[in-house]
Amino acid sequence: MQLQKAFGFAVLFFSIMKVCVAANPHETNAEVGTHMKDVTVPASNTVFAVANETPKNDEEWRKVKANALALVESGKWLLKTPFENQPIWKQATEQMMNAAKSVTKAAETKDTEKAIEAGDALYAACEACHAVYLNKSASAK
Ligand code: HEC
Repeated sequence: MQLQKAFGFAVLFFSIMKVCVAANPHETNAEVGTHMKDVTVPASNTVFAVANETPKNDEEWRKVKANALALVESGKWLLKTPFENQPIWKQATEQMMNAAKSVTKAAETKDTEKAIEAGDALYAACEACHAVYLNKSASAK
């Protein structure tokens, strides 16, 4: 009985801890920053670059598509963080994944206009999440 009670308290304690960590938007972990730098940023740079220079051949379009797919995977990763159940986090990530999927389609049909349009939507998704979750020191960069 005593043991059960102690176990109950431990469970309660850890679930409260989890809620506290997840409830503070600025309590982002360093892992998210590393993921951004390693995956999200390089992949999105390739997508954004289409607005400056139209891909010239199949290989360049394939590269755009591969990086758009990496952004879809990045979204899946973002949905497995402690913030996954928070509405803005979820919404911005889904927006990012949808935009990335549109880029994939545009790359398959080599449609520059559509790729740029989807790139703009992608950028809006990055901003939507950062507006709430990026800490001040990071956004000042
Ligand atoms: C669902 C939320 C979310 C989305 C979507 C998102 N980010 Fe981030 N990003 C973050 C958070 C949180 C941090 C800060 C991590 C930290 O605390 O170090 C961050 C940090 C960054 C940084 C700073 C990295 C550093 O530490 O120097 C860059 C650059 C960045 N994001 C680019 C992007 C781009 C480009 C996109 C869109 C293609 C994007 N992010 C989409 C949440 C998001």
